[in-house]
Amino acid sequence: MAETRAAGRAAELRRILDRAIRAYYVLDAPEMSDAEFDRLFLELQALEAAHPDLRTPDSPTLRVGAEPATSLAKHRHLSPMLSLANAFSDEDLAAWEERNARIAPDVVTAGYTLEVKIDGAAVSLTYQGGVLAVGATRGNGVVGEVVTANLRTVPDIPLRLVGKGWPALLEVRGETYMPRAAFDALNRKREAAGEPPFANPRNAAAGGLRQLDSRATRERGLRFFAFAASAPDARLPFKTQAEQLDGLAAWGFRVEPHRRRVAGLAEARTAIAALERELATLPFGADGVVVKVDRLALHEELGNIGDREPRWAVARKFAPEVAVTKLLDIKVNVGRTGALNPYAELEPVEIGGVTVSTATLHNADLIAAKDIRIGDWVEVTRAGEVIPQVLGPVREKRTGAEREFRMPAHCPDCESVVDAPADEVMTYCPNVSCPGRVHESIFHFASRGAMDIRGLGYEKVKQLLDAPLIKDAADLYGLEAERLVALEGFAEKSAAQLVQAVAASRDRPLSTLLFALGIRHVGAGAADLLARRFGTMDQLMEATAEQIGEVRGIGPTIAAAVQAFFRERRNRALVGRLRDAGLRMDEPAKVTAGGVFDGHTFVLTGTLSKLSREEATRLIEQAGGAVTGSVSKKTTAIVAGDEPGSKIEKARTLGIPMWDEAELLRRLGR
Ligand code: IVH
Repeated sequence: MAETRAAGRAAELRRILDRAIRAYYVLDAPEMSDAEFDRLFLELQALEAAHPDLRTPDSPTLRVGAEPATSLAKHRHLSPMLSLANAFSDEDLAAWEERNARIAPDVVTAGYTLEVKIDGAAVSLTYQGGVLAVGATRGNGVVGEVVTANLRTVPDIPLRLVGKGWPALLEVRGETYMPRAAFDALNRKREAAGEPPFANPRNAAAGGLRQLDSRATRERGLRFFAFAASAPDARLPFKTQAEQLDGLAAWGFRVEPHRRRVAGLAEARTAIAALERELATLPFGADGVVVKVDRLALHEELGNIGDREPRWAVARKFAPEVAVTKLLDIKVNVGRTGALNPYAELEPVEIGGVTVSTATLHNADLIAAKDIRIGDWVEVTRAGEVIPQVLGPVREKRTGAEREFRMPAHCPDCESVVDAPADEVMTYCPNVSCPGRVHESIFHFASRGAMDIRGLGYEKVKQLLDAPLIKDAADLYGLEAERLVALEGFAEKSAAQLVQAVAASRDRPLSTLLFALGIRHVGAGAADLLARRFGTMDQLMEATAEQIGEVRGIGPTIAAAVQAFFRERRNRALVGRLRDAGLRMDEPAKVTAGGVFDGHTFVLTGTLSKLSREEATRLIEQAGGAVTGSVSKKTTAIVAGDEPGSKIEKARTLGIPMWDEAELLRRLGR
């Protein structure tokens, strides 16, 4: 077949197949027989095999899965992927509206949209020129993982947008989920094969997304609903959330059909009550109703609470299922900060389709306040994401044999005398080298939102500590495959994979490392702010608590915790050894494609008169540039305000251009 004819036929087949897939999965209105579909699909596959240059990134043939990847690349979200605050009652909902009305009085009359809250895994899809370019998991909200090939296998994610009006660069967010039927079938199959079943469809969906082999993702039968769109450098043609959802549907996305607009909270309440009854009958897991302020202009006015959750949306959750079971014992676990966490060992019981055998008890005060005793029959609940909780005892069932719980005077892991600060409810093991603490902190260090060392789970960390091949996180970087092979459960391949996964983590940015270090109160969001503001580990370690506290979004508690962490000799030593092991200690520039400062790095010094340091940093970053703390040959310019520091000297010696604030603003076009 002549090249041009082949190209023409391939394009035609892509169009026909794409349309058929949308008709079947998105519009729920099949327009082609399976046999016909298969015939055309095979024809396209054969064409692409014969003419590899005809393969396109939006070809329906990609939906069967691609070659396995060796690892998942990281993706920094254009804007953080937020989570949602919860409202457990109508009163909570009214209080939410009242808080918002203080900021933006119009919310009361602007109407709301109600959407089913789908219980799956959030993903972010980037479309360039209408073609799916990147699909990423939520990750820690700031940085996720690239799972584009996997998401192409999800039939209701368009590989190419349809309709009109979409911007050249579009980011769509939504939920991938596993339909109940597919979940049940998967678990039956796993049990038959002697594999442990998944606890719930959410875990199965999230795990399915992160497969290295996209064909394995496809096997999970994941589906997708879209719920948000944004365009970093264009205005979307929507004034309301309701319009946005309709717009997404018009561009080829599947949008959950129960969505509706209500005029105000009164109407919302009735509609939510009706929806609540329907949730259990849906063919997928749904764990609430999301209430969103309808008018998009108000979203901007209301803004977000930190990088955590928007003020303009809330998840209305319903009373969780409660089960009664026997509290067999209360044990204590040492957390990575040394806090002693009491937890309940329960007679296994099923709650909302999940078997529960342990539940958190928070702290000794709460156990006493609820009068929970060992041997009690207790009410246990599991609310969505949250770890199972013990609500309280069933007093009528007491026999008199129940025992009160007392916090141990010695750490269960290292026997140190525990520390119970008078002004805190928690009790701590004071020993920074306590094996329990070390175990938890290395596990956190290696975990997915942190350094993401694949294959290093809780049990493996324990094994390495017991061997003993490691004493702390820095020792991971000295692990050798030959030594690992000697351990039970390690084969040559898995040992080599672990060493490789450890090595790959060396290059994680400072923000990830800061989070991984497990500094008290420093979550992924705070770590990101700190890394972006200070640029390098050294700059942060040298900063005073005041300087740290000045960072927007960082309060005095975090600032004090960061300082306390670096004051501790052992922590400084750990950082030093991580540095010696070759870990990256700085934050790469956050680049917005196409900005005037694309690829340029700046250093700020002294006090600017119009802009705060944070504002200047933000403006530079928005223009595609990066701000770091120290001058190097790669610095584009040093921006100096009043009373500049010693960096000026260094810039002079290196011949780095010096700008004042006016020059910066001029270059930014302001
Ligand atoms: S809005 C910025 N709408 O629930 C707004 N989220 O608990 C955040 N979710 O991370 C998301 N259905 O993964 C929104 N209709 C819906 C949703 C929804 C499910 C998930 C989403 C989010 C999580 C928060």
